Amino acid sequence: MKLSFSKLITIARGTLLGLFARRAGWPVMIGGSVELKGLRSLTLGNRVMIGSYAVVGRDVVLGNLSSIGRNTYVDNGVTIGDRVSISRNCSLVTSTHGSDAPDRRAGRARFVSPLRIGDGCWIGTDVVILPQVTEIGAYTVVGAGAVVTRNLPANVLAVGNPARVIRELPPLPITQPAGRSPVSQPAPDTQADEA
Ligand SMILES: CC(C)(COP(=O)(O)OP(=O)(O)OC[C@H]1O[C@@H](n2cnc3c(N)ncnc32)[C@H](O)[C@@H]1OP(=O)(O)O)[C@@H](O)C(=O)NCCC(=O)NCCS
Repeated sequence: MKLSFSKLITIARGTLLGLFARRAGWPVMIGGSVELKGLRSLTLGNRVMIGSYAVVGRDVVLGNLSSIGRNTYVDNGVTIGDRVSISRNCSLVTSTHGSDAPDRRAGRARFVSPLRIGDGCWIGTDVVILPQVTEIGAYTVVGAGAVVTRNLPANVLAVGNPARVIRELPPLPITQPAGRSPVSQPAPDTQADEA
């Protein structure tokens, strides 16, 4: 890995912030102006990257060798597997407003359900994943600009609004992750004493 000055800064920032996270591997690269809403509930694997201007909510897990692109929004309760690439300008949304407040249709925001993105997925640029979605299967590709309204199975290519599966992808052999995966381990709370 060639280390430019700006990359060193992102690693220094990631290392510092990682000290306050629930758990963090190394190296962790965090770009400028990233908003980490729930740093203490954030779990980061080894060799992960969060791009500039990203916003990351509470109870988020980012697996080994995975990245969150510039200006991407990751809502509360999102678990991202190993070797996942979330491109820039995406919105992974797990909460919504109730529309039943008569004087203000965007009423109090409520969490809908957690979202899990399987190992090896590629989420293209400008993708929106809506709150009712709970699972994107492993090794699936979501094309640029898609709006995902339903769960997607593993090893498919889905595009469009609403996203539709347009073909199956050949299953890939499962490779060894870089170190222990934070996604496949027991919940961090249950092993706090081991650390
Ligand atoms: C999804 C993607 C990977 C598909 O690539 P591909 O396998 O080469 O697919 P093709 O280009 O052969 O397209 C297959 C069909 O899907 C359509 N399609 C492809 N990508 C699409 C997209 N993002 N949205 C809507 N339709 C799309 C094509 O128009 C084509 O339709 P047709 O059969 O009616 O002509 C690619 O188009 C894409 O969106 N890449 C994301 C790029 C990106 O976000 N980069 C960020 C940096 S990581």
